[in-house]
Amino acid sequence: MELTTSSNIKVVTAKESKINSVDFENLTFGNVFTDHMLVCDYHDGAWDQPVIMPYESFTMDPSSRVFHYGQAIFEGMKAYKDDNDDVWLFRPDQNFERFNKSAVRLAMPEVPEEVFLGGLHKLLEVEKDWVKKGKGNTLYIRPFMIATGQGVIASPSNEYRFCVILSPAKAYYSGEVKVVIADHYSRAANGGIGAAKAAGNYSGQFYPTKLANEKGFQQVIWTDDATHTKLEEAGTMNVFFRINDTLYTAPTSERILDGVTRKSIVELAPTLGINVEVRPVLVSEIVEAAKNGTLKEIFGAGTAAVVNPIAGFSYQDTYYELPKLENSFAAIIKEKLTNIQHKLDTDTFGWTVKV
Ligand code: COI
Repeated sequence: MELTTSSNIKVVTAKESKINSVDFENLTFGNVFTDHMLVCDYHDGAWDQPVIMPYESFTMDPSSRVFHYGQAIFEGMKAYKDDNDDVWLFRPDQNFERFNKSAVRLAMPEVPEEVFLGGLHKLLEVEKDWVKKGKGNTLYIRPFMIATGQGVIASPSNEYRFCVILSPAKAYYSGEVKVVIADHYSRAANGGIGAAKAAGNYSGQFYPTKLANEKGFQQVIWTDDATHTKLEEAGTMNVFFRINDTLYTAPTSERILDGVTRKSIVELAPTLGINVEVRPVLVSEIVEAAKNGTLKEIFGAGTAAVVNPIAGFSYQDTYYELPKLENSFAAIIKEKLTNIQHKLDTDTFGWTVKV
């Protein structure tokens, strides 16, 4: 598949590139940005012409709605370069669709395809040197939209800014993570915004995650807000549990983000001989399986995190360490998925899209 280019995009190039000052081998996730960004403003009920311009600060009125009411959404995507120097995206249509679902839920205008996907295509053409070859090298893509309308009245803005910034990235986590299973705080509730990629879904996790960090855990696995008995997602990634030789993951819902990596694994794993069941996963069964030795592994799945093994979990102050496996499902799935993304294996699913 190939992305369609939009000719209606203005390009203002940066005077100088900072690419030679970047140490691509030692990147901390999300700290370095490329030379250009895409900006498109919305006002009077319509989107302006998108502009690719040098990466720089925004000037905004202090009363802009985003500062007061958090009307902000985003996406996470990645670009990969193959051995022929071609740049590829992984299921960008899914991110585009989810972005607009988030926009609707946050009472924001939908972004047209030619702005989101056409603009991204053009931006990646301009920034192609920032996508480095080799497995493990990616260009993380962060499309986002903020409410720029002025005034502190608590109602949706009538002005917005859509923007795409790019950041060269390696791994999000430097290795296995330890997690806490939530039994008090919640990430989302039925009827809420849990399924949207809304900024507030992330900031709401910072305090409970900070408490977990202080005890030596990197992440929280969220449970359903009503009973805290069902395992849902980890906030930066969806979660898979392997009991004996079957992988289980929770169905998406109003409370869980419909992760692109998650849904890809649900399709990919059976082709690798791994049985996957999408059904509610109970805290009690995971604790029981950890006690009787049938819980073999837990891993997270997300665009930034890719497939990240979980070393163990804490639940109500008891820590359960998971076994170290030679040929973990996480490793097998990660290998295949990243081979497809980097065009090292045939993409029989039609997931990869050439820029
Ligand atoms: C992603 O995986 O792209 C996300 O948006 C998660 C974020 C916490 C980095």
